[in-house]
Amino acid sequence: MAEIEEIREFLGCATPEAWLQAALQQVPTLLIDHAHCEKKAASTALNLMFRYVDRRNLLSRLAQLAREEMLHFEQVLELMDQHGVRYDHLSPARYANGLRRHIRPREPWKLVDTLLIGALIEARSCERFAALAPLLSEQEATADIGRYYRFLLKSEGRHYRDYLDLAREYSPEDISARLLKLREIEAELITAPDPEFRFHSGVPSA
Ligand SMILES: [Fe+2]
Ligand SMILES: [Fe+2]
Repeated sequence: MAEIEEIREFLGCATPEAWLQAALQQVPTLLIDHAHCEKKAASTALNLMFRYVDRRNLLSRLAQLAREEMLHFEQVLELMDQHGVRYDHLSPARYANGLRRHIRPREPWKLVDTLLIGALIEARSCERFAALAPLLSEQEATADIGRYYRFLLKSEGRHYRDYLDLAREYSPEDISARLLKLREIEAELITAPDPEFRFHSGVPSA
């Protein structure tokens, strides 16, 4: 498992305090969007397995990852039941598309960029779970969510590592420069004002 310090260093910025405060005020939305994110994470991994059937290591690493994301999805649904929160449609954050529109169209760069973005998204999720866990645990009403978020750190840290390892494996050149560029874009999405609160939204502006 990647240590949380390594993940913080990997990312271009920390989650802004204003986002954390907004999250504590909107726990039902946080949970609903979190459930959507788990399902999307599984779907992204499955799509890659369909598109790159000849990449042996990708197939086994992402098959396990997709299974874990589906398990998280079920666990978040259960947590929502316990808190009387009903699953519903929610418009997605600008975050994932804001990153994916920078994917270069030609292979192997398309694969490398997709994997690097996967590493960034997993790392950010992990960083946010780590930042939220102690705050949620302070309140009795949300202490169980705090406990669950602490539990998730381990698998999300491993997912970050899976994507990063695969990007290194399938890139014909050193990934550092490209990673630096995508990290900047990710940090901009996290620190720029954002009118909509979501698990991966920026600084609340509304
Ligand atoms: Fe997950
Ligand atoms: Fe994950």
